[in-house]
Amino acid sequence: MLNEKKVLFSGMQATGNLTLGNYLGALKNWVNLCEEYECFYSVVDLHSITVRQDPTVLRQRARKLLTIYIAAGLDPEKNCLYYQSHVSGHAELAWILNCFTYMGELNRMTQFKDKAAKHADNINAGLFTYPTLMAADILLYQADVVPVGIDQMQHLELTRDVAQRFNAVYGDVFTIPEVYIGKVGAKIMSLQEPLKKMSKSDENPNASIYLMDDPDTIMRKCKRAVTDSEGQILYREEQPGIRNLIDIYSACTGKKPEEVVKEFDGKGYGDFKVAVGEAVVSALRPLQERYEELSKDKAYIDGIIKANAEKANYVATKTLRKVQRKVGFPDRVR
Ligand code: TRP
Repeated sequence: MLNEKKVLFSGMQATGNLTLGNYLGALKNWVNLCEEYECFYSVVDLHSITVRQDPTVLRQRARKLLTIYIAAGLDPEKNCLYYQSHVSGHAELAWILNCFTYMGELNRMTQFKDKAAKHADNINAGLFTYPTLMAADILLYQADVVPVGIDQMQHLELTRDVAQRFNAVYGDVFTIPEVYIGKVGAKIMSLQEPLKKMSKSDENPNASIYLMDDPDTIMRKCKRAVTDSEGQILYREEQPGIRNLIDIYSACTGKKPEEVVKEFDGKGYGDFKVAVGEAVVSALRPLQERYEELSKDKAYIDGIIKANAEKANYVATKTLRKVQRKVGFPDRVR
């Protein structure tokens, strides 16, 4: 672990089923990053309980997500794949960072405002301090880069501000993280409302393709995708539905959008939708097969969970002890 590689940290919530958008936009692109970075990918279950969860479902989904990480190609020997709740340092550092974060800063977070509006009956303090927990995730591992989408940029900015504030008082304790700008994945939109991002929490089941959807379901959803009445397969803003299908086809086949337009020149939407469905089915097949195999191998997955939690704990504890010392907590007596 004592190498010169830069550190990359990211987390995903195990709420809802992962969509094709999560895969093409994030996961798929993470696979090779371990060559360049020391990578940590957390299943952020502490974040998940800021909204009510069914305990059994949450536990199942967390395991499913971790298994999907591996099935998608993240090598668990080269990437640290672990549950946030298995590393108590996250909660401990989050507490300390709470004492360095202003109410006003948290009040400005647009995600808090959105979620508070959505869960008006349960606007709990955890929902409010969600961003300081996220800052703790990132800073515990001294992450240099964090691959996040535009919706998490505000949280990353806050992380940087809090880290800088802390460093200004106590010296260079935290690495100031930057957004990871590498090969960005495709941004996949809803099949039903192509101006909206494809989301795992969409209430319309036809809007999203889930990673574990069977071929018939994938085909049906593609055929039902909302398009337009232009009748031409062109890659342009005026045709967001067709444009999204081109993006999906392009990400699944590796062909450029211009090539896709050429390939389907003169063809009808019906034929194109079938081709998109087939491309998605083939793109997801290896992941689904690997997932089936892995989920039968309980001992293997358990082993990964244990080893990676130990590794994460080791790194996290190092930072945590340093922070505790800086703020004036008494040394541990050995
Ligand atoms: N808040 C992120 C999301 O909802 C998930 C997350 C938690 C995360 N901790 C993180 C992402 C740390 C990047 C780094 O997408």
